[in-house]
Amino acid sequence: MVIQEASFKLRKMGNSDLVLSPLGLGCWQFSNGNGIVGKFWPVLAQEDVFQIVRISLQGGINWFDTAEVYGKGQSEQMLAKALKEVGSLADKAHIATKWWPIFRTASSISNTIEERMQMLDHRTIHLHQIHQPYSFSSVASQMKEMAKLVKQGKIKNIGVSNFSAKKMREADRVLRENGLRLVSNQVKYNLLDRRIEQNGVLDTAKELGVAIIAWSPLEQGILSGKFHKNPALVKSINGPRKWASAFRPSGLQRSKTLIDALEHLAQKYNASPTQITLNWMIHANGETVFAIPGASKIYHAEENVKAMSFTLKPEEIDMIDSISLEVLKSKR
Ligand SMILES: NC(=O)c1ccc[n+]([C@@H]2O[C@H](COP(=O)([O-])OP(=O)(O)OC[C@H]3O[C@@H](n4cnc5c(N)ncnc54)[C@H](OP(=O)(O)O)[C@@H]3O)[C@@H](O)[C@H]2O)c1
Repeated sequence: MVIQEASFKLRKMGNSDLVLSPLGLGCWQFSNGNGIVGKFWPVLAQEDVFQIVRISLQGGINWFDTAEVYGKGQSEQMLAKALKEVGSLADKAHIATKWWPIFRTASSISNTIEERMQMLDHRTIHLHQIHQPYSFSSVASQMKEMAKLVKQGKIKNIGVSNFSAKKMREADRVLRENGLRLVSNQVKYNLLDRRIEQNGVLDTAKELGVAIIAWSPLEQGILSGKFHKNPALVKSINGPRKWASAFRPSGLQRSKTLIDALEHLAQKYNASPTQITLNWMIHANGETVFAIPGASKIYHAEENVKAMSFTLKPEEIDMIDSISLEVLKSKR
């Protein structure tokens, strides 16, 4: 089957009027090597970032996920520069960023918003998220502070990240009291990490109408199959990823059956394992799950775009589902 580009449907994100592509672009990779979190990825050439953003927008990806902590604002700035560079193509771009809560109280949400706006070159912040559930302040205080920003017109919508089902419910409750709703919970979710299916996060999101934004949808590159094909590539990784269990020889061995199944389907769809795994992510749970693959190379953006141009059949989704569960069982 030949893949057609941009033949996918946009979808409403959770309880909001945002209409977004099922895949957004993860922008942690644009951190420029700055700060501890920014050291995770190699420094990208500015021209490559421009191309990654351009190709994403041309292919219909209409939103970008960044954060204060990604290179201490470098990712936000790099994204804003790229959006400026692509001109009118950026008119349809939506921006999601995040406040870093560690060692801070809720007042810092308001105290840092002007900086966020400046880093993003005063583009609209369509979604502002609490990055982690570990602030000195309660969830209620954080939500009330976020609600103030919506009322002041500084942000459009509110999301959280890495929140448990209970905290997510609390966040939504407080926002409802303030005439708003929780739009999203950004959590780790992929075919090799399905904890949100067990810990109540996915079910609660569906019940409340909150969108799940899946981070690390490729298990940081493992689900592309490139490390299975060429295990020597692991040694050339610049950053702490290479020490994660999924990247060790035993981890690669364990996930091999899943990669083989993705490869098999990829041939049928004239696609790559990356595209099959991303397609599974955005179709296995109706319209609840959005995914934000990170791209460090231009061809990653090209593949992301094409990953939205077909839909796996229900029986193919089920087949991948059961192979992934088998692999996860063998890990225990
Ligand atoms: N909220 C949170 O706590 C949180 C945590 C983590 C991430 N995030 C967000 O989620 C986004 C994605 O997560 P992530 O970057 O951790 O992991 P990911 O999207 O699973 O993996 C990204 C990496 O996979 C490889 N890759 C991407 N496309 C590929 C392709 N087509 N073929 C082969 N390899 C490919 C690249 O690795 P190479 O660079 O080695 O080529 C890329 O850097 C981040 O950018 C960030 O916005 C949020």
